[in-house]
Amino acid sequence: MNNSISLGPETVVAITGASSGIGAALAEQLAERRVRLALCARRPGRLAEIAARVRSHGADVLDVVADVSIEEQAANFIEQTIKTFGGRLDVVVANAGRGHCAAVEDTSTEHIHSMFALNVYQLWYLLRPALPVMKAQRRGHIIAISSIVGKIAYPYNAAYVAAKHAAIGFIAALRTELVETGVEATVVCPSGVQTEWAQVTDSAPISELFAEGIARSRIIAQERNIPRAPLQRMMSASEVAQQIIAAIEMPPGRDIFTHEGSEELVALALGSRRAYEDAMLPLLLGMRQAYEARH
Ligand SMILES: NC(=O)c1ccc[n+]([C@@H]2O[C@H](COP(=O)([O-])OP(=O)(O)OC[C@H]3O[C@@H](n4cnc5c(N)ncnc54)[C@H](OP(=O)(O)O)[C@@H]3O)[C@@H](O)[C@H]2O)c1
Repeated sequence: MNNSISLGPETVVAITGASSGIGAALAEQLAERRVRLALCARRPGRLAEIAARVRSHGADVLDVVADVSIEEQAANFIEQTIKTFGGRLDVVVANAGRGHCAAVEDTSTEHIHSMFALNVYQLWYLLRPALPVMKAQRRGHIIAISSIVGKIAYPYNAAYVAAKHAAIGFIAALRTELVETGVEATVVCPSGVQTEWAQVTDSAPISELFAEGIARSRIIAQERNIPRAPLQRMMSASEVAQQIIAAIEMPPGRDIFTHEGSEELVALALGSRRAYEDAMLPLLLGMRQAYEARH
């Protein structure tokens, strides 16, 4: 079955987390195709700014201030979208996400719940009202923005890592229910993207831990005379947005790893946990030193 969707003035796309980063870049690129857009996020000012920019391309835009980790607000966003755009809904991009930064033993129950509510439960909250419409249309595409850490792991953000793994499991299960319905579901797994994400992680910005861990990993690798795993190139939000648009237009039938080298890293970890740990050792130890120096 060909589940491709051509993006044009008839198409309705709902994007969560559209006030910055990947969501905002995607909204702008879709606006250039004149699709009808529903955008949501929590910060009213930032969301209004993006909505205004998108409207200036001539796109029809609904912007809704909503916290999609709260069931009623997420469901209401989808219901309002369907109502506003004459009962249609073609694409849902579950992009809103946030991480956290803490060792397992320092992760509060509140953070565990908030990581899962946002990065996983959001999917149920959005899709319960969205799926019946898409199934009736026999057309639709659900895009879940997970992460490379939905497949492998980095230290000091276990609740986020576990939630992004769960999002991939959710989409895998959903796909088994969508066979021959005309509705597609795709997982996108970015690695480092230049957005606000690493600054706004709960507990502390994980960007600082990564920067310090990378610096320390150089010294550790030198002292032990071992190689460091090559660092992946940071991508821009608009490069990731381009890949999401390509997936909507031509569903790849596989998870999308946005960054070069990600699939190899995942294959290494799946093949041998020890081989993955050995390859990552300087970084893992560097991050431990950096974390312990702060606690
Ligand atoms: N940047 C990376 O390196 C990276 C790597 C892998 C995966 N990802 C994933 O990519 C997705 C997009 O992140 P980004 O990199 O573009 O980061 P970002 O610039 O921080 O954008 C995150 C977006 O999510 C929104 N958001 C956060 N919590 C929300 C909530 N409870 N309800 C509604 N909206 C919420 C934020 O807006 P408000 O604050 O206004 O609500 C913002 O618009 C996330 O799922 C993230 O986990 C990012």
